Amino acid sequence: TLPVIIDCDPGIDDAIALLCAFVAPQLNILGICTVCGNQPLPNTLRNALQITELGQRTDIPVFAGCHQPMFREPIHGQFHGENGLGNTAFPAPQKQPETLHAVNFLINSCEQAIRDNQPVTLCVLGPLTNLATALRMKPQIAAGIARVVLMGGAYHEAGNRTMTSEFNMLADPHAAHVVFSSELNITVLPLDATHQVILTPEHVGKFINVSGRISQPLGELMAFWDRNDIRRYGSRGGPLHDPLVIAYVLAPELFGSEKARVFVEYNSELCMGQTVADWYGKSGQTANVDIVTRVDAPKVFMLFYELLSRYAGN
Ligand code: BDR
Ligand code: CA
Repeated sequence: TLPVIIDCDPGIDDAIALLCAFVAPQLNILGICTVCGNQPLPNTLRNALQITELGQRTDIPVFAGCHQPMFREPIHGQFHGENGLGNTAFPAPQKQPETLHAVNFLINSCEQAIRDNQPVTLCVLGPLTNLATALRMKPQIAAGIARVVLMGGAYHEAGNRTMTSEFNMLADPHAAHVVFSSELNITVLPLDATHQVILTPEHVGKFINVSGRISQPLGELMAFWDRNDIRRYGSRGGPLHDPLVIAYVLAPELFGSEKARVFVEYNSELCMGQTVADWYGKSGQTANVDIVTRVDAPKVFMLFYELLSRYAGN
Protein backbone atom coordinates (compact mmCIF):
# COMPACT_ATOMS: atom_id res chain seq x y z
CA THR A 1 0.00 0.00 0.00
CA LEU A 2 0.99 3.58 -0.66
CA PRO A 3 1.59 5.74 2.44
CA VAL A 4 -0.22 9.07 2.04
CA ILE A 5 -1.09 12.12 4.11
CA ILE A 6 -4.13 14.16 3.13
CA ASP A 7 -3.95 17.89 3.89
CA CYS A 8 -7.34 19.54 3.40
CA ASP A 9 -9.89 22.26 4.21
CA PRO A 10 -13.30 20.49 4.05
CA GLY A 11 -15.13 21.79 2.04
CA ILE A 12 -17.63 19.77 0.03
CA ASP A 13 -15.20 18.50 -2.60
CA ASP A 14 -12.57 17.81 0.08
CA ALA A 15 -15.20 15.72 1.88
CA ILE A 16 -15.95 13.72 -1.28
CA ALA A 17 -12.22 13.22 -1.83
CA LEU A 18 -11.79 11.92 1.74
CA LEU A 19 -14.73 9.53 1.34
CA CYS A 20 -13.15 8.15 -1.84
CA ALA A 21 -9.72 7.80 -0.24
CA PHE A 22 -11.09 6.06 2.88
CA VAL A 23 -12.20 3.03 0.89
CA ALA A 24 -9.27 2.77 -1.53
CA PRO A 25 -7.45 -0.42 -0.52
CA GLN A 26 -4.23 0.81 -2.17
CA LEU A 27 -3.86 3.71 0.27
CA ASN A 28 -2.42 3.72 3.77
CA ILE A 29 -3.67 7.09 5.09
CA LEU A 30 -1.21 8.03 7.83
CA GLY A 31 -3.15 11.12 8.88
CA ILE A 32 -5.40 13.97 7.88
CA CYS A 33 -4.12 17.52 8.30
CA THR A 34 -6.51 20.46 8.29
CA VAL A 35 -5.90 24.08 7.40
CA CYS A 36 -7.63 27.44 7.22
CA GLY A 37 -9.20 27.62 3.75
CA ASN A 38 -12.78 27.06 2.67
CA GLN A 39 -13.69 27.80 6.29
CA PRO A 40 -11.78 28.97 9.39
CA LEU A 41 -9.61 26.24 10.92
CA PRO A 42 -11.99 25.20 13.74
CA ASN A 43 -14.63 24.42 11.11
CA THR A 44 -12.38 22.57 8.66
CA LEU A 45 -11.10 20.54 11.62
CA ARG A 46 -14.62 19.75 12.81
CA ASN A 47 -15.70 18.86 9.28
CA ALA A 48 -12.76 16.50 8.82
CA LEU A 49 -13.63 14.75 12.07
CA GLN A 50 -17.27 14.44 11.01
CA ILE A 51 -16.28 12.97 7.66
CA THR A 52 -14.02 10.37 9.30
CA GLU A 53 -17.04 9.37 11.41
CA LEU A 54 -19.34 9.22 8.39
CA GLY A 55 -16.78 7.08 6.56
CA GLN A 56 -16.17 4.93 9.65
CA ARG A 57 -12.47 5.72 9.49
CA THR A 58 -11.96 7.12 12.99
CA ASP A 59 -8.78 5.04 13.07
CA ILE A 60 -7.12 7.80 11.00
CA PRO A 61 -5.63 10.58 13.18
CA VAL A 62 -6.80 14.12 12.40
CA PHE A 63 -4.52 17.11 13.06
CA ALA A 64 -5.23 20.83 13.30
CA GLY A 65 -2.85 22.89 11.21
CA CYS A 66 -2.31 26.57 10.50
CA HIS A 67 -4.95 29.09 11.58
CA GLN A 68 -3.92 31.72 9.05
CA PRO A 69 -2.19 31.97 5.70
CA MET A 70 1.53 32.86 5.88
CA PHE A 71 1.04 36.53 5.21
CA ARG A 72 -2.36 37.45 3.75
CA GLU A 73 -5.63 37.81 5.60
CA PRO A 74 -7.73 34.64 5.36
CA ILE A 75 -10.31 34.27 2.60
CA HIS A 76 -12.92 31.52 2.67
CA GLY A 77 -14.76 29.43 0.08
CA GLN A 78 -18.01 30.61 -1.46
CA PHE A 79 -19.74 27.44 -2.55
CA HIS A 80 -19.63 25.21 0.53
CA GLY A 81 -22.54 26.55 2.60
CA GLU A 82 -22.52 28.03 6.10
CA ASN A 83 -20.88 25.01 7.72
CA GLY A 84 -18.55 24.14 4.85
CA LEU A 85 -20.44 20.92 4.16
CA GLY A 86 -23.33 22.25 2.12
CA ASN A 87 -25.39 22.86 5.29
CA THR A 88 -25.81 19.11 5.68
CA ALA A 89 -26.26 18.49 9.40
CA PHE A 90 -23.76 16.02 10.83
CA PRO A 91 -23.73 15.05 14.49
CA ALA A 92 -21.12 16.82 16.65
CA PRO A 93 -17.95 14.74 16.31
CA GLN A 94 -17.15 12.27 19.09
CA LYS A 95 -13.62 11.82 17.83
CA GLN A 96 -11.00 14.17 19.23
CA PRO A 97 -8.28 15.75 17.10
CA GLU A 98 -4.67 14.89 17.95
CA THR A 99 -2.81 17.32 20.18
CA LEU A 100 0.22 17.41 17.86
CA HIS A 101 0.15 20.29 15.37
CA ALA A 102 -0.36 19.24 11.73
CA VAL A 103 2.93 20.86 10.71
CA ASN A 104 4.80 18.81 13.31
CA PHE A 105 2.95 15.71 12.17
CA LEU A 106 4.09 16.40 8.60
CA ILE A 107 7.68 16.87 9.76
CA ASN A 108 7.67 13.77 12.00
CA SER A 109 6.09 11.62 9.28
CA CYS A 110 8.64 12.71 6.68
CA GLU A 111 11.52 12.09 9.07
CA GLN A 112 10.15 8.64 9.82
CA ALA A 113 9.76 8.04 6.09
CA ILE A 114 13.43 8.89 5.58
CA ARG A 115 14.49 6.46 8.34
CA ASP A 116 12.25 3.72 6.89
CA ASN A 117 13.27 4.54 3.34
CA GLN A 118 9.58 4.67 2.44
CA PRO A 119 8.78 8.19 1.23
CA VAL A 120 5.20 9.44 1.62
CA THR A 121 2.89 10.95 -0.95
CA LEU A 122 1.28 14.22 0.16
CA CYS A 123 -2.21 14.92 -1.19
CA VAL A 124 -2.93 18.61 -0.69
CA LEU A 125 -6.54 19.68 -1.26
CA GLY A 126 -6.42 23.19 0.20
CA PRO A 127 -4.09 26.16 0.59
CA LEU A 128 -0.45 25.09 0.96
CA THR A 129 0.17 26.78 4.33
CA ASN A 130 0.95 23.63 6.35
CA LEU A 131 3.40 22.16 3.85
CA ALA A 132 5.13 25.50 3.27
CA THR A 133 5.53 26.01 7.02
CA ALA A 134 6.95 22.49 7.41
CA LEU A 135 9.44 23.16 4.57
CA ARG A 136 10.50 26.45 6.16
CA MET A 137 10.98 24.75 9.54
CA LYS A 138 12.84 21.70 8.20
CA PRO A 139 13.76 21.70 4.51
CA GLN A 140 15.43 18.29 4.98
CA ILE A 141 11.97 16.67 5.09
CA ALA A 142 11.88 16.93 1.28
CA ALA A 143 13.82 13.65 1.19
CA GLY A 144 10.89 11.90 2.86
CA ILE A 145 8.33 13.11 0.30
CA ALA A 146 7.89 10.93 -2.77
CA ARG A 147 5.58 13.39 -4.47
CA VAL A 148 3.18 16.21 -3.69
CA VAL A 149 -0.09 15.87 -5.59
CA LEU A 150 -2.07 19.04 -5.17
CA MET A 151 -5.22 20.70 -6.42
CA GLY A 152 -4.55 24.26 -7.40
CA GLY A 153 -3.93 26.85 -10.05
CA ALA A 154 -5.22 27.69 -13.51
CA TYR A 155 -3.09 27.74 -16.67
CA HIS A 156 -5.01 27.91 -19.91
CA GLU A 157 -8.20 28.31 -17.85
CA ALA A 158 -9.18 31.55 -16.17
CA GLY A 159 -9.33 31.73 -12.39
CA ASN A 160 -12.32 30.72 -10.29
CA ARG A 161 -11.95 33.17 -7.41
CA THR A 162 -10.56 36.10 -9.36
CA MET A 163 -10.04 36.65 -13.07
CA THR A 164 -6.59 35.10 -12.88
CA SER A 165 -6.55 32.96 -9.77
CA GLU A 166 -7.79 29.69 -8.39
CA PHE A 167 -8.95 29.66 -4.76
CA ASN A 168 -6.23 27.50 -3.15
CA MET A 169 -3.47 29.57 -4.73
CA LEU A 170 -5.08 32.91 -3.94
CA ALA A 171 -5.80 31.92 -0.33
CA ASP A 172 -2.08 31.54 0.38
CA PRO A 173 0.08 32.58 -2.59
CA HIS A 174 3.18 32.89 -0.41
CA ALA A 175 2.86 29.30 0.74
CA ALA A 176 2.33 28.22 -2.87
CA HIS A 177 5.51 30.09 -3.80
CA VAL A 178 7.46 28.24 -1.10
CA VAL A 179 6.23 24.87 -2.36
CA PHE A 180 6.72 25.57 -6.09
CA SER A 181 10.20 27.01 -5.52
CA SER A 182 11.28 23.86 -3.65
CA GLU A 183 12.84 20.92 -5.46
CA LEU A 184 10.00 18.55 -4.56
CA ASN A 185 8.35 16.33 -7.16
CA ILE A 186 5.00 18.00 -7.69
CA THR A 187 1.93 17.07 -9.70
CA VAL A 188 -0.83 19.67 -9.94
CA LEU A 189 -4.47 19.16 -10.82
CA PRO A 190 -5.40 22.69 -11.97
CA LEU A 191 -8.76 24.00 -13.10
CA ASP A 192 -7.71 22.96 -16.63
CA ALA A 193 -8.09 19.36 -15.41
CA THR A 194 -10.87 19.66 -12.83
CA HIS A 195 -13.22 21.49 -15.19
CA GLN A 196 -13.21 18.35 -17.34
CA VAL A 197 -14.84 16.40 -14.51
CA ILE A 198 -18.22 18.02 -13.88
CA LEU A 199 -20.48 16.27 -11.41
CA THR A 200 -23.84 16.63 -13.18
CA PRO A 201 -27.24 15.96 -11.58
CA GLU A 202 -27.29 12.67 -13.55
CA HIS A 203 -24.04 11.61 -11.92
CA VAL A 204 -25.38 12.60 -8.51
CA GLY A 205 -28.37 10.32 -9.01
CA LYS A 206 -26.09 7.41 -9.83
CA PHE A 207 -23.83 8.05 -6.85
CA ILE A 208 -26.86 8.11 -4.55
CA ASN A 209 -27.90 4.72 -5.92
CA VAL A 210 -24.57 3.01 -5.37
CA SER A 211 -23.28 4.48 -2.13
CA GLY A 212 -25.22 2.47 0.43
CA ARG A 213 -25.11 3.75 3.98
CA ILE A 214 -23.58 7.14 3.11
CA SER A 215 -25.94 7.80 0.23
CA GLN A 216 -28.12 10.37 1.94
CA PRO A 217 -25.44 12.74 3.22
CA LEU A 218 -23.34 12.15 0.10
CA GLY A 219 -26.34 13.03 -2.07
CA GLU A 220 -26.89 16.24 -0.08
CA LEU A 221 -23.24 17.26 -0.38
CA MET A 222 -23.26 16.57 -4.10
CA ALA A 223 -26.57 18.30 -4.76
CA PHE A 224 -25.31 21.44 -3.00
CA TRP A 225 -22.26 21.46 -5.29
CA ASP A 226 -24.36 22.31 -8.39
CA ARG A 227 -23.11 25.73 -9.54
CA ASN A 228 -25.91 26.17 -12.04
CA ASP A 229 -23.43 27.92 -14.36
CA ILE A 230 -23.79 26.41 -17.79
CA ARG A 231 -21.78 29.17 -19.42
CA ARG A 232 -18.70 28.24 -17.44
CA TYR A 233 -19.06 24.47 -17.03
CA GLY A 234 -21.06 23.45 -20.09
CA SER A 235 -23.77 21.78 -18.02
CA ARG A 236 -25.44 21.81 -14.63
CA GLY A 237 -23.25 20.58 -11.75
CA GLY A 238 -19.87 21.45 -10.29
CA PRO A 239 -16.24 20.44 -10.86
CA LEU A 240 -14.85 17.58 -8.76
CA HIS A 241 -11.64 19.46 -7.94
CA ASP A 242 -10.26 17.69 -4.87
CA PRO A 243 -11.41 14.12 -5.63
CA LEU A 244 -9.30 14.35 -8.76
CA VAL A 245 -6.17 14.35 -6.58
CA ILE A 246 -7.20 11.00 -5.12
CA ALA A 247 -8.08 9.66 -8.59
CA TYR A 248 -4.66 10.72 -9.84
CA VAL A 249 -2.85 8.98 -6.99
CA LEU A 250 -4.85 5.79 -7.59
CA ALA A 251 -4.80 5.78 -11.40
CA PRO A 252 -2.25 8.17 -12.94
CA GLU A 253 -2.65 6.39 -16.29
CA LEU A 254 -6.04 8.13 -16.67
CA PHE A 255 -4.31 11.54 -16.88
CA GLY A 256 -1.92 13.35 -19.17
CA SER A 257 0.44 16.11 -18.07
CA GLU A 258 3.08 18.55 -19.27
CA LYS A 259 6.20 19.39 -17.30
CA ALA A 260 7.08 22.99 -16.52
CA ARG A 261 8.47 25.24 -13.83
CA VAL A 262 5.64 27.02 -12.01
CA PHE A 263 5.74 30.50 -10.51
CA VAL A 264 3.06 32.05 -8.31
CA GLU A 265 2.29 35.77 -8.32
CA TYR A 266 2.27 37.26 -4.83
CA ASN A 267 3.01 40.93 -5.50
CA SER A 268 0.27 42.19 -7.77
CA GLU A 269 -3.23 42.93 -6.51
CA LEU A 270 -4.67 42.31 -9.98
CA CYS A 271 -3.00 38.94 -10.52
CA MET A 272 -2.45 37.81 -6.91
CA GLY A 273 -2.33 34.02 -6.75
CA GLN A 274 -1.96 33.52 -10.49
CA THR A 275 0.02 30.43 -11.46
CA VAL A 276 2.42 31.00 -14.34
CA ALA A 277 3.95 28.03 -16.14
CA ASP A 278 7.27 28.29 -17.94
CA TRP A 279 6.12 26.15 -20.89
CA TYR A 280 9.04 27.14 -23.13
CA GLY A 281 11.99 27.29 -20.72
CA LYS A 282 12.22 31.08 -20.52
CA SER A 283 13.20 31.16 -16.86
CA GLY A 284 16.31 29.01 -17.13
CA GLN A 285 15.04 27.00 -14.16
CA THR A 286 14.42 23.27 -14.30
CA ALA A 287 10.88 22.09 -14.94
CA ASN A 288 9.76 20.51 -11.66
CA VAL A 289 5.98 20.34 -11.89
CA ASP A 290 3.77 17.92 -13.79
CA ILE A 291 0.76 19.98 -14.80
CA VAL A 292 -2.21 17.75 -15.56
CA THR A 293 -4.07 18.98 -18.62
CA ARG A 294 -5.79 15.83 -19.92
CA VAL A 295 -8.27 13.62 -18.09
CA ASP A 296 -10.12 10.49 -19.17
CA ALA A 297 -13.28 11.74 -17.47
CA PRO A 298 -15.53 8.69 -18.13
CA LYS A 299 -12.94 6.37 -16.60
CA VAL A 300 -12.39 8.72 -13.66
CA PHE A 301 -16.15 8.64 -12.98
CA MET A 302 -16.04 4.85 -13.15
CA LEU A 303 -13.29 4.89 -10.55
CA PHE A 304 -15.37 7.15 -8.28
CA TYR A 305 -18.42 4.86 -8.67
CA GLU A 306 -16.31 1.84 -7.88
CA LEU A 307 -14.90 3.49 -4.76
CA LEU A 308 -18.12 4.97 -3.38
CA SER A 309 -20.06 1.76 -4.02
CA ARG A 310 -17.84 0.18 -1.36
CA TYR A 311 -20.06 1.94 1.19
CA ALA A 312 -22.92 -0.31 0.15
CA GLY A 313 -22.94 -3.34 2.40
CA ASN A 314 -20.32 -2.24 4.93
C1 BDR B 1 -10.50 24.54 -4.62
O1 BDR B 1 -11.04 25.57 -3.82
C2 BDR B 1 -11.85 25.03 -2.83
O2 BDR B 1 -13.02 25.78 -2.67
C3 BDR B 1 -12.11 23.60 -3.19
O3 BDR B 1 -12.23 22.80 -2.03
C4 BDR B 1 -10.92 23.22 -4.01
O4 BDR B 1 -9.87 22.70 -3.20
C5 BDR B 1 -10.98 24.73 -6.05
O5 BDR B 1 -10.56 25.97 -6.53
CA1 CA C 1 -10.26 22.08 -0.90
